[in-house]
Amino acid sequence: MLIVSQLTKRYGSRLAVDDISFTVPRGSVFALLGENGAGKTTAVRCMCGLLAPDGGEILYETDTGTSAPAGCREILGLSPQENAVGLHLTAEENLRLMADLYGVSDPEGRVAEMLSLFGLEEERRTRGKALSGGMGRRLSIAMALISSPSVLFLDEPTLGLDVMSRRELWRILGSLRGKMTIVLTTHYMEEAEALADRIAVMKKGKIAAMGSLDELREKNGLPGGSLEEIFVRIMEGGAV
Ligand SMILES: Nc1ncnc2c1ncn2[C@@H]1O[C@H](COP(=O)(O)OP(=O)(O)O)[C@@H](O)[C@H]1O
Ligand SMILES: [Mg+2]
Repeated sequence: MLIVSQLTKRYGSRLAVDDISFTVPRGSVFALLGENGAGKTTAVRCMCGLLAPDGGEILYETDTGTSAPAGCREILGLSPQENAVGLHLTAEENLRLMADLYGVSDPEGRVAEMLSLFGLEEERRTRGKALSGGMGRRLSIAMALISSPSVLFLDEPTLGLDVMSRRELWRILGSLRGKMTIVLTTHYMEEAEALADRIAVMKKGKIAAMGSLDELREKNGLPGGSLEEIFVRIMEGGAV
């Protein structure tokens, strides 16, 4: 569905994304895992067409052939690291705004569907600024989903959430599995472990390791190891 080859992006002299390549099959969940500053958000912004790469290529396989991000924006949905929720609008108004922006057919029905899927019915008239962290995150993801994107980008979907809100969000995201292609970034190992089919570990702009959890275990000589153990080994310069 998505082919990234030799993607490179600099900010001035700072190399934020350094020659990364991977493919994400249709309907799968791909995690970019890495510490703060590894280059995850920059890579996502390039994949969504919000930043122009300095090198490399990003291609989507669409119903009508292959396309660069700019040519298929309508099939991409992004929940940015900083929520995109309008603070003075209610939850319902935020969703309605996105539905109208994307020209969703039956906007009323779709808004109701999103409120229900994300357990936001009781918050429908709460303004963005009054939502809890967990509810704000849910709304931000619901807004990204309202246009029924083929590819959904979730940049640190559970950043700063408490344990129960995180678990609840994982449950919701788990229910989307297989229904669309998902690219998520996270620095929480358990999140990649819980949600992703394949994981790329980013380190200083590069992909230091990539594979399914089992493949990463095997390559790093840690059968049955947790992703955290594997991550530490990779960060310390172990096998890739
Ligand atoms: N707008 C920007 N201008 C300059 N440097 C930036 C900008 N955004 C990110 N960076 C730098 O690029 C690197 C990668 O950042 P980012 O993609 O945000 O990483 P991550 O999302 O993994 O935390 C970091 O060193 C960061 O300081
Ligand atoms: Mg980031």
